[in-house]
Amino acid sequence: MPVITCIDDLKRLHKRRVPKMFYDYAESGSYTEQTFRENTSDFAQIRLRQKVAVDMSGRSTAGTMAGHDVAMPVALAPVGLCGMQHADGEIKAARAAEKFGVPFTLSTMSICSIEDVAAHTTKPFWFQLYVMQDEDFVDAIIERAKRAKCSALVLTLDLQILGQRHKDLKNGLSAPPKLTLPVMLDLATKWRWGLGMLGTKRRFFGNIVGHAKGVGDTASLMSWTSEQFDPKLDWGKIARIRDQWGGKFIIKGILDEEDARIAADFGADAIIVSNHGGRQLDGALSAIRMLPSIVRAVGDKVEVHMDSGIRSGQDVLKALALGAKGTYIGRSYIYGLGAMGEAGVTRALEVIRKELDTTMALCGERDVKALGRHNLLIPEGFEGHWA
Ligand code: GLV
Repeated sequence: MPVITCIDDLKRLHKRRVPKMFYDYAESGSYTEQTFRENTSDFAQIRLRQKVAVDMSGRSTAGTMAGHDVAMPVALAPVGLCGMQHADGEIKAARAAEKFGVPFTLSTMSICSIEDVAAHTTKPFWFQLYVMQDEDFVDAIIERAKRAKCSALVLTLDLQILGQRHKDLKNGLSAPPKLTLPVMLDLATKWRWGLGMLGTKRRFFGNIVGHAKGVGDTASLMSWTSEQFDPKLDWGKIARIRDQWGGKFIIKGILDEEDARIAADFGADAIIVSNHGGRQLDGALSAIRMLPSIVRAVGDKVEVHMDSGIRSGQDVLKALALGAKGTYIGRSYIYGLGAMGEAGVTRALEVIRKELDTTMALCGERDVKALGRHNLLIPEGFEGHWA
């Protein structure tokens, strides 16, 4: 078992063990990848304020996210095609999350279905919804999530049309992969992955294949999004979905103060400040740069969460200190999943919790809920004047 000390170690193993097509899918941003890069480089601009000679015993990272108790305010973000990073990937990640005590969010574009994940876990997970044109499909999947006892609906608003990721087109991304010569040559060096896939039947988009109609190539994410996702999604339709769901409701993909105000007045339990990990609007500002102004605008009305760019416990601390009440990791746990399955997801969570805990101590804090602006050193003009 290799010694894993940081998320980057998992990323290196992920790259070595998972077919290029799926590693690239996870590791891409859209177009020039400017926003993808800045999501992480902007975190690095924020520094931490060291405090000494304060009692740092009895620390706690526990808190709540949208009314759920969490071992630390870090949920697993919805990520498409997890079951292609590792056989039965969504089940493995959900099990790691439930044992650790953090929420797992199942993507609409998952390989294992809602029912399958529910059958292999013991605690409720969250379900992320993409709104499709086929209203019957949307009604049915909401009912399926209710029947599976999902404890929150996370509605993603920033992917009604897919931002182009060049590598996915060049690699011919599909689930399962089509066995072209370059794919077969690549698979020859990824035997662990291949053995896992031979041992499972879960190789298709489990929530949608057989449930939604009208897509040319059912193995292609690009075809699903362009042929099925609803380009007319608006706040009226969102209200209908909120009412139909009737449970905890989280709106994901807010990056603008005006949108945040609308979402806050909407009775959402939380909003997620996010640019989809830099995978959608290339040229958008990083999520961490947008977070403070959105917290100022709506933080007293709605719980503000954030994702996009978190690769360490230090990043989690920075987001919480800037006012986020919860954070999400996507790639950081996918590296673990691709590297080592369930054990890798657990390792990713352990790494992040240890970093968060140690960093809290060195900042002179004992309780994650007490983190605030006073823990940070932020360069003048960090938020910028963008008009
Ligand atoms: C979502 O499914 C994505 O590929 O970003």
